This record gives sequence, structure tokens and C-alpha cells, in this order.
Amino acid sequence: MANLKEEINRRRTFAIISHPDAGKTTLTEKLLLYGGAINLAGSVKGKATARHAVSDWMEIEKQRGISVTSSVLQFEYDGYCINILDTPGHQDFSEDTYRTLMAADSAVMVIDGGKGVEAQTRKLFKVCVMRRIPIFTFINKMDRDANDTFDLLDEIEKELGIATCPMNWPIGSGKSFKGVYDREKACVITYSDTEKGTREGEATEIPLDQLDRLTGFVGENLKDKLLEEIELLDGASAEFDLDKVRAGVLTPVFFGSALTNFGVEDFLQHFLQMTTTPLPRRSDLGLIDPAENGFSAFVFKIQANMNKAHRDRIAFMRICSGRFDADMEVRHVQGGRMMRLSQPQQIMANDRKILEQAYAGDIIGVFDPGIFSIGDTLCMPKEQFQYEGIPTFAPEHFARVRQVDTMKRKQFVKGITQIAQEGAIQIFQELNTGMEEIIVGVVGVLQFDVLKFRLENEYNVDIRLEPLPYEHIRWIANKEEVDLTKLVGTSDMKKIQDLKGNPLLLFVNSWSVGMVLDRNVGLVLSEFGNN
Ligand code: G4P
Repeated sequence: MANLKEEINRRRTFAIISHPDAGKTTLTEKLLLYGGAINLAGSVKGKATARHAVSDWMEIEKQRGISVTSSVLQFEYDGYCINILDTPGHQDFSEDTYRTLMAADSAVMVIDGGKGVEAQTRKLFKVCVMRRIPIFTFINKMDRDANDTFDLLDEIEKELGIATCPMNWPIGSGKSFKGVYDREKACVITYSDTEKGTREGEATEIPLDQLDRLTGFVGENLKDKLLEEIELLDGASAEFDLDKVRAGVLTPVFFGSALTNFGVEDFLQHFLQMTTTPLPRRSDLGLIDPAENGFSAFVFKIQANMNKAHRDRIAFMRICSGRFDADMEVRHVQGGRMMRLSQPQQIMANDRKILEQAYAGDIIGVFDPGIFSIGDTLCMPKEQFQYEGIPTFAPEHFARVRQVDTMKRKQFVKGITQIAQEGAIQIFQELNTGMEEIIVGVVGVLQFDVLKFRLENEYNVDIRLEPLPYEHIRWIANKEEVDLTKLVGTSDMKKIQDLKGNPLLLFVNSWSVGMVLDRNVGLVLSEFGNN
């Protein structure tokens, strides 16, 4: 049997975050290629094949009576066991995207060199900062015209509030992209786009002191510019400091091109050296060490089955300590009972397999008969502790929801409450009105469709959604100290409460948030709620 500590120490679990189209899928595909998890680039579900993959997925559901999803990819590289967590983007962007970051030990941020920091990156980044997880930046698409390198770094520092340390430095971009200067090796690695879609070929390395050779490859102008920039850089940029990287206050930055497979393996190698093994996690009994404890895990995502015939769900959990063995007995702490996790599965690139064993750092999906909630802890039968809860993230779209047939009140309330418990949507009420008026809040608009579809199909209730103009929500962090009736608001503000009676404020305009803070001295507002 493999040594527990060794197995855990070789694990690296990270999420890839980006704005849609920055190249997350392409980069993931190339990373898998190095791990030998796929033979050819293009096997990872891309946009063109997405529809296809969805139907395959339904087919598997039908055959096995379970729902599966390819949201975790595991592969081996150079002795490491790597788990990549996908953060759904595009239309699928939802609270799940945020929650996935709760299960990762670090994040890789992909930025399009021609676009810089974009909206979705900014949002996901905030969650990483809140958790202080290390962030590694890959500036992609250098084979296309990119923004000025110093401007890109400046933007990351200013917009995201994290110091940057470039590990390499691009020479030109677009048609004149010649490669990167590797600061550690003090040599230039030349770019050729002939390796498209294959493993990286033998890149030519030119030490910086071989000036004639360098000029031969990149030309006089780019050589001069490079030497100038290196000098500037050595004087101006933050020094590399692994402790700061691991504390999430300094991000190492790499430049490359995922599509033409330039700089990807180099990035992977550096990343694996800098990122951490699964770390101890906070619980109500203090830090739980991954290798010194028996099995424990927490649920970070629940995926409902969209198939009407199967009401079951899959609960995704991150193993935080010890080893998981198929069919072992565990304690579901919040449920207050012992259970066996049935049909544990791990999701590989294109393959889903029933698991025999998994270790701290791994993600497993288990069949959920409707007993798990987001944030629940599982541990060994003789243990009893709870991991820190997963915060509630601010929805950005709101709608008033009404059932079409008023006779179906009971089903409606039951359905919408259950769906909210799974964490797909958040529901709120007007202050002091009970369930008369329900306001639904979602992170991604697709969740509105999911809600409508599921209420119709699973609970036989038709609903009407009336969009509301609010876009900003704030929890009142010091609710005990605030008299809501005396709160001085703005004309676009609305007071609501969540199911537990916690007061919240909705705003149409972001500047109103600041105005309300100014008008009510001592009021503390938060973008995250605590479960
Ligand atoms: P995402 O998952 O972050 O949404 O991005 P994805 O990888 O799907 O990439 C978005 C588009 O950008 C794709 O082109 C992809 O081929 C292209 N791309 C990714 N990395 C690079 C790069 O390093 N250089 C260049 N030039 N392009 C890159 P598409 O035409 O929208 O899709 P497809 O038809 O190629 O799939």
C-alpha cells in the first residue's frame, strides 16, 4: 500500500480561472497533453463539441442512473498527481464557479494579452484573495498583438491589488513574437509556431550574453528593447519570494501562447515547484492536517440531475485529510449519522471511473439521496468536527417569482426552498412579509432557466419571473448593532431578508452602496454572507 504521506505530498489541486475566451480550455488541453491523459489536443470538451458532450452526458446518466460531470480532471506528470478544477464560465457562470475555488489549493489565472484584466477574472480573483490562495498568472495569446508588457503588469497590480513578479519576459508579440526571456536561466527561448497542437519541440535557448546570436534571431530593434526592458525590470519589479507567493500576495507571471503550445510546459514545471501540497484546513477543532488524520472531506458542490426520471444528485467533495476507501463508513456531521458513500467516482479527462481509493487533495463525486448541503463535513466515525462553512456569494441578477397557479402554493414553496438548499439559487423575501413575495437572486442568468425548468419538471409548478433592476447586494455584517428602521437609504435601495432572517440591502447602482455607508456611520456591509 502506498505511503499515505507520499501520496498526499505529490498532489496538486488547483482551479483555472479566466474571462471567457482568454484560453482556459486551450491551456487545460495542453496541460493534459503533457500528462499523457489525452493523446491529441482537442479531446477536451471545447465550445464546438460542447453540445455533443452534453448529450453524451445525458446518455451516461440514463445508463447508470447517475449524473456525472467533467468538472474535475486528474492526470499524472513527473511524479505529481494533478487535479484541475474547472470553473464554469460563459453562460454557466454561477455560484458553483465561486464555490469551486473553495476546493482548490491554488489558482491559475489566464489573461488574454491583448485584453488584459477582464470582468470575470476580477470577480473570481476577489474570491481567491478572500481565501488567500496562491495565484499564478499565465498571460496568453502572445502570438497575437498584445498590450505593452509593463502596462499589463501594472493593470494586474492596480486592478487586482496583488504584486507581480514576471518569471519570463516576452520579446515582441503578434507577428513579431520571437519568444521569451527566461529570467532565472538568463537566456532567451525562441518561439516557433510549428509545434501547434503537439508536445513542445526542442526550443532554442540563447544565453543573453551571446549578443550576436541573439540579434540574429530577434533583430537589432527587439534585442535593444529587450536589454532595456530587462534593466528596467530588474530595478522595478517585485523580487521573487516564495513565501509571498504562497500567502497569495505576490503572483508569478508567465507569458506564452497556449494555442501554439509555447511556454506551457515551462509554466507547468515552475508552477508545480511553487505551489503547495494539500494544506491543513480550518475546522471548529482547529487546523486539520491532511496526513496526520483519517479521512475527512467537505461538500462544495451539488449537481442535481436534470433528468426527470432520476431525482438523485451528485455531491462533490474535496478530501481534506487521510485516505478514502470505497465503501468505508463515514460520519456525516451535519446530518448526525453514519453512512457509506455509494458509487464514489472520479472524473478523468474523458472517462469516469468508480473509485477504489482517493487521497487528501482529490475530489470525489458521490451519489446524494438528498441529504447533503453545501459546506457539510464528512469524517471518520469516531471523529466529530466541522470544516469552516462556505460563504454565500453575492448574486448579481434578481427577479420576483410568482407561481402561475395559486393553488400550487405548497409545491412551489417546497420546490424553490429545496433548489435553494442545493445552492443553485438564493431566495429572499421582502422584510417582514414571509413567503408571500419571493425574490430570487442568481450569479449567472442561466440559473433562472434552470429554476423554471426544474420547478416545472420536478415539482409540476409553472412560474413567472419578473426581472428586477437590482445588481448589487450587501449583507449587513453588524446586524446586531444596526436599527433597520432608522437606516437612511437611497432611492434605489431595497431592504430584504434571507431565509434565516438576516437583513440585506439591494441596490441598482454601485455608488449607492458607498452613499449608504456615508449616511449611516458605523454600518458595516459585506459582499459575502456566512452560512
Ligand atoms: P476559454 O476556455 O477561456 O473560453 O477559451 P478557449 O480556450 O476556448 O479559447 C478561446 C479562443 O481563443 C479559441 O479560438 C482558441 O483557439 C483561441 N486561443 C486560445 N489560446 C490562444 C493562443 O495562445 N493564441 C491564439 N492566437 N489563440 C488562442 P476560437 O476561434 O474562438 O475557438 P476554436 O474554434 O479555435 O475552438
